[in-house]
Amino acid sequence: MPDNLEQRIRSSQLRDKITTATAAAAWIKDGMTIGMSGFTRAGDAKVVPLALAERARHEPLKVTLLTGASLGGEADRQLTEAGALVRRMPFQGDPTLRAAINSGEVMYVDQHLSETVEFLRSGQIAPVDVAIIEAIAITETGAIIPTTSVGNSASFAILADKVIVEINLAHALELEGLHDIFIPKRRPLREPVPLTKVSDRVGTTAIEIPAEKIVAIVITNQPDSTAANLPPDADTAAIAGHLVEFFKKEVAAGRLTERLMPLQAGIGTIANAVMSGLIDSPFKHLTMYSEVLQDSTFELFDAGKMDFASGSSITLSPRKAGEVFSNFSKYKDRLVLRPQEISNYPELVRRLGIIAINTALEADIYGNVNSTHVMGTNMMNGIGGSGDFARNAYLAVFATKSVAKGGKISSIVPMVAHTDHSSHDVDILVTEIGLADLRGLAPRERALAIINNCVAEPYKQMLQEYVAAANARGGQTPHILEKALSWHVNFLQHGSMLPAAVAADLMQAA
Ligand code: COA
Repeated sequence: MPDNLEQRIRSSQLRDKITTATAAAAWIKDGMTIGMSGFTRAGDAKVVPLALAERARHEPLKVTLLTGASLGGEADRQLTEAGALVRRMPFQGDPTLRAAINSGEVMYVDQHLSETVEFLRSGQIAPVDVAIIEAIAITETGAIIPTTSVGNSASFAILADKVIVEINLAHALELEGLHDIFIPKRRPLREPVPLTKVSDRVGTTAIEIPAEKIVAIVITNQPDSTAANLPPDADTAAIAGHLVEFFKKEVAAGRLTERLMPLQAGIGTIANAVMSGLIDSPFKHLTMYSEVLQDSTFELFDAGKMDFASGSSITLSPRKAGEVFSNFSKYKDRLVLRPQEISNYPELVRRLGIIAINTALEADIYGNVNSTHVMGTNMMNGIGGSGDFARNAYLAVFATKSVAKGGKISSIVPMVAHTDHSSHDVDILVTEIGLADLRGLAPRERALAIINNCVAEPYKQMLQEYVAAANARGGQTPHILEKALSWHVNFLQHGSMLPAAVAADLMQAA
């Protein structure tokens, strides 16, 4: 038992609930719905899900698992391998689970991240039976103080019948005060969320629930899994450079100031690298109103560029995690973590005027974006919060490298094979080749802007030919339906989107 147990569990009655992961997992029965903390690898329950997986290896046990977003560690992998997951929502990023989703073994509900608890609260999906929440401490009254993410934890704990808490000693008590827990009223009597600046605090610093709902407490001591982002490269630097030039022009035109507007950045290598690109820009006093605070947020703090960042989780590389969490007092008063329905609340995204920067797997000549389905079929991760932000943003930016898989895939295609963000939600498309400003353009104009600015040869010429032939057929959004997905078909049949003859010529030239 830790020395400072009384600071970690501040009610003596609750200290009697300390037990093992196996005993805690015994509260979970076959067929239940579990709501678990964890958002992009941060603040996830570390040991009870593994004890659950162990049980599922020896007895019939299948559950529906809801989280904030993706989990770190082993939880999704072990639960999948044990056959314990019947249904999973609203986001994941685990290769083993991804394979089980794509084979049809696990039913995956890929959902806008702001919506899950709205559905729960209004009884539109099965209720949460047991919540498993990682915490730094539990107060005298039973309020749970989360760790490095809030995600959906607050509503899971409030709406569940029973709550299991993992007190993780690896997270410092200094995190207390970081969180701002605000739960919107039920509809139709909901009032506006009273938040008008990114730094506003409108809720409580802990998740308030009746203490008697806490049925088990497990003590752990494991740091979060770290981010798996790759470092910036020449292409991501070029993407960042194009965006910085675009923002400079917006400032010159009087539409933005040097503070820009509050920034949201999506997950992954590209979005993180694009944000890092703002370090060498003329902009200052930046703010973020985002979901995940990645390395780039703290690099911008350290460079004196960022004034305040609001998110739902902190997910860092191993090096940055060491630096940030050992000097947390340096950042704490410039940070807040909120429930994901508030970090992604459409009303606030529109009110605050957010510049949303998210990543596409592929986009088409009209600016429809596919962020989730490889070749239109296989799930990658999920839509995450990108839709919450893009539809309501001041400016919706989507970034992608112009090609993938060594040039065998063009990220700009005639027609996306799956649509997450329709062309109506996409204002700016940027690749390492350049940036297409799509604001105020009709579809035929959007196609020219995208092909001329964002695509490299030989795909550029192929798209020019496609669009010329499509325009000749006519239409508001011209297409040649029998050819629109032929690039994907080529890739599936021959391993490249290029026609066989072009691919052979290129091979010879190389
Ligand atoms: N077709 C097939 N695969 C593609 C592809 C395409 N058009 N474009 C990229 N890929 C592959 C890459 O080759 C890479 O594969 P690998 O992991 O085998 O190397 C993988 O997708 C990731 O691409 P990368 O270029 O490294 O980008 P990223 O790390 O920035 O991730 C997304 C890009 C789209 C997968 C990621 O941003 C995502 O899941 N987005 C959806 C959720 C979201 O936007 N959330 C934001 C709010 S939280």
